[in-house]
Amino acid sequence: MASRKPLISGNWKMNHTHLDAIAVVQKLAYSLGPADYERAEVSVHPSFTALRSVQTLLDADEVPIALGAQNVYPADSGAYTGEVSPVMLAKLNVRYVIVGHSERRQLLGETDGMVNQKLVAVLGHGMSPILCVGETLEEREAGTTEAKVLGQLKADFEGVSPEAAAKVVIAYEPIWAIGTGRTASPDDAQAVCKAVRAWVGEAYGSELAGRTRVQYGGSVTPDNVAELMAQPDIDGALVGGASLDAERFARIARLGHQAD
Ligand code: 13P
Repeated sequence: MASRKPLISGNWKMNHTHLDAIAVVQKLAYSLGPADYERAEVSVHPSFTALRSVQTLLDADEVPIALGAQNVYPADSGAYTGEVSPVMLAKLNVRYVIVGHSERRQLLGETDGMVNQKLVAVLGHGMSPILCVGETLEEREAGTTEAKVLGQLKADFEGVSPEAAAKVVIAYEPIWAIGTGRTASPDDAQAVCKAVRAWVGEAYGSELAGRTRVQYGGSVTPDNVAELMAQPDIDGALVGGASLDAERFARIARLGHQAD
């Protein structure tokens, strides 16, 4: 199997002012060292209002943490009040953009069509999307988890070339596990991540599937991360609540690469 460097990402959602964000990144930079960055890539995804502050800090201190955003609007510029364009994000050295998070799909009505446009926009500006997919509790109980997840992938990757697809990170986030303290079992998470990789293989070939990073997200903590990361098809974590605290997130980043 191709070796894939784990990507441990902190999705701060609508938390932390720019001052809080600076404090967390400073502590994180202090806690993590060269050995950690060699074995895992770490990204933080602050609010739009904190991106510039965090970028300045990362650049000034040459901290090898990747800067990420949580969302984007799929147009370069224009009359889209309140939105932020991929041009603006790329200019801030943003490397990863979360696309299609279930909170945006559920609370803000994002459709697969919109997610597809955002994916294409992020790729068009040299950044990597972290595409979130996942099922509701009802869908899991009805046995339609794979159908839901693979259906989202098919729609969200519509028209994406193999060269572009190679830059996409896929995050499997079961909706019932987000913010609930209820994590998918390592076996269940592995089964879906394996199916995700198999889908990439069918759509783009086995070589690309072997290189694609598939993250798990949903109540990841320092206590469960190692077991999840030990699964063969899980290549990182998309962490919400437990990434808000620098010390906890640093422990997750460290434990998340010990399995390889
Ligand atoms: P929690 O880690 O808080 O469950 O959130 C997961 C998530 O939605 C990350 O994008």
